[in-house]
Amino acid sequence: MPVRPSLQEIRWLSSAAKSPAQFRSFLRRSFRGEPLAVGLSVSSGFVHSGLIYIHTSTVVLTGSQPFHELHLRVHQPVLIPRPETEEWAIRLSELLVPSKLALSRPLSILDLGTGTGCIPLLLCHVWRPKGQVRAHGIDINPAAVELANENGAACGLSPDTFKAVQGNFLAPNFPGNLPENIAPPFDIVTSNPPYIPLDEYRELPASVARYEDRGALLGGPTGLEFYRAIARLTAKKGFLSPGAVVALEIGYNQADAVRNIMHASGFNTQVWVDAWGKERTIIARRFVRVG
Ligand SMILES: C[S@@+](CC[C@H](N)C(=O)[O-])C[C@H]1O[C@@H](n2cnc3c(N)ncnc32)[C@H](O)[C@@H]1O
Repeated sequence: MPVRPSLQEIRWLSSAAKSPAQFRSFLRRSFRGEPLAVGLSVSSGFVHSGLIYIHTSTVVLTGSQPFHELHLRVHQPVLIPRPETEEWAIRLSELLVPSKLALSRPLSILDLGTGTGCIPLLLCHVWRPKGQVRAHGIDINPAAVELANENGAACGLSPDTFKAVQGNFLAPNFPGNLPENIAPPFDIVTSNPPYIPLDEYRELPASVARYEDRGALLGGPTGLEFYRAIARLTAKKGFLSPGAVVALEIGYNQADAVRNIMHASGFNTQVWVDAWGKERTIIARRFVRVG
């Protein structure tokens, strides 16, 4: 089915095209379902492009994506941050004020499957002026780790405040296989894990499946594999500090399943609905046992 570009996307394409003929070609390609947005830059740094994604096999695709007040560098094969993620990350940043938590150490954030680093970078950006913050982003993909660290530096964050590290959070020895300074307890654990079930992945439009990393999208046969791993991990004794928050992005129809997974591991949950009316985020806290 043809994909209709939005007015905003047409504006991006228009500003990126070097000639009317190139603009027409961009439009034709976008109607065929190529992703409309991501970078058009070649060697001269990156283009501030919103989501402009014109694929050519000869060009290393690079671009920048606004994410709240940040402009994050994006390039294939790292997932381009989505507006849905931006929305709940902003909401999470408004939930807490580090200075009010009376911690004797920096607020500790762990982001599982960090990609561009968008979630912890937004949190550091908002929270750092209000208190000390230390965030780590974990990703299995070395290209994502490199990009997230570049983004951290471009956002003015020192490696003491934000650092991305390569790691596999499905591994049984995680986080024991990480550098020593990334140690529990964590105050905030965030994740937008791969969550698309295999059947749905096979049905994805070419504009997504061909241009986005399979390892960033596919959540195993049921789409729930990563949530089960996160539930096991965060339920481990000492992994979370008292009162810690776990924030998980979910697929449009996964709220009940992910809530059940988190409940079974000893968490209370709340579901956040996004601006498009979809259940988008699970906020989980450990049960507090009285007596
Ligand atoms: C849906 S993307 C989210 C990226 C970013 N957090 C965002 O919201 O744009 C999931 C990320 O998880 C990473 N990932 C997949 N499997 C992983 C694993 N076993 N351990 C660590 N990271 C993993 C992928 O490389 C990808 O960057």
